[in-house]
Amino acid sequence: MPNPIPILLDGDPGHDDAMAWMLAQSSPLLEIRGVTSVCGNQTIEKTTYNAQRVMTLLGIDAPLAKGRPGPLAGAAMPAPSVHGESGLDGPILPEPAVFPVEGPACALMAWVLEESPEPVTIVPTGPLTNVASLLLTRPDLKGKIAGISMMGGGVTHGNWSPAAEFNILVDPEAADLVFRSGVPITMAGLDVTEKALVFPEDFETIRALGNPVARVVADWLEFFYGFHQKLGYAGAPVHDAVAVAALIAPELFQMEEMYVAVETEGVYCRGATIGDRYQLSGRAPNARVILDLDRADFVALLTRAAAAYGG
Ligand code: RIB
Ligand code: CA
Repeated sequence: MPNPIPILLDGDPGHDDAMAWMLAQSSPLLEIRGVTSVCGNQTIEKTTYNAQRVMTLLGIDAPLAKGRPGPLAGAAMPAPSVHGESGLDGPILPEPAVFPVEGPACALMAWVLEESPEPVTIVPTGPLTNVASLLLTRPDLKGKIAGISMMGGGVTHGNWSPAAEFNILVDPEAADLVFRSGVPITMAGLDVTEKALVFPEDFETIRALGNPVARVVADWLEFFYGFHQKLGYAGAPVHDAVAVAALIAPELFQMEEMYVAVETEGVYCRGATIGDRYQLSGRAPNARVILDLDRADFVALLTRAAAAYGG
C-alpha cells in the first residue's frame, strides 16, 4: 500500500460536498490534513456549521477553519433552491463535536503546507476564494501544493448562467488567479460531473447497507435529486465527489490537458471557463480537464465508501 496522499478539503457543504468528504474519509489512499469552509451555496456561517456537522458524522479528525465571509470581489450568491435554507437540508445530523480553530481558512492551509514534509493536494469543491487567498497571502508556499483537484467550471456550458458553472461564477476573480497560478490543476467540471449520476435505485442500495452514514448518504442523495429531477436529470449528479474520486481512482475518468482561461468580464460570460481544446491560443495547458467517466464504476466506488462506515 503506497503512502496516503495528504489532502486539504475546502468546500461549502452542500450535499455533494458532504458526499465528497464521505468518500475521502473512507479511503486509505487519502489522509485529510485539514478542512476549510468557503462561502458558496450558503453564507459562511451556515457552510461552516455544516462542515462541523459533516466532520462529526464522518469522524474526520483534522483541524477546521472558517473561510472569508464572501468572494474576493462581488457579492455572495446563496443557492437555497439546490441545497435548502440550511445549505444542507434533509436528514438530521449530529450537533458538532468539531469546532473551527482561530484564524482564517487560508492561514490553516498555509500551516498544513508548512508542516507537511511532502507537498499536499488541495481539493476545493466550492468557490476558489480560499485557495486564491492562500496564493495571494503566501505565494512562497506554491511549491508545497502538489496539485489542485477541484470541482468547478465546464468547457462546454454552465449551470448558473448559460456560460458559467456555480462555483466559478460566485468568485471568478479567485478562479482566474488559481488557473493562472501554475499549480497543476485537475478540473472536474460540468462536462463530467453532470454524468456522475446516482440513480434512485442506487440510493436504495446505499440505504440498504444499513449503517448510520449510509442512511444519511441515501437521504442526501434523495434530497439533492429532488432539485435535479425537476430539471430532467435521471439521477443526482454528485458533482463534488468527482474531484475526490479522480485522486482515488483516476482510471475511471477520461481527461484532456488544455489551457483553461476564466472570463472575469463580459455581459453574458462572466465566470465561464474557456477550454482551448484545439490549442488555438498557443498557450501551454494549465489543467487536466475531466470529460467523461465510467458511471457504474463511480457509483460502485461511492457505494463501497458508504459501506466502509459499517465497521
Ligand atoms: O455546480 C455544482 C457545484 O455547485 C457543486 O460544488 C455543488 O455543491 C453546487 O453548490
Ligand atoms: Ca460544493
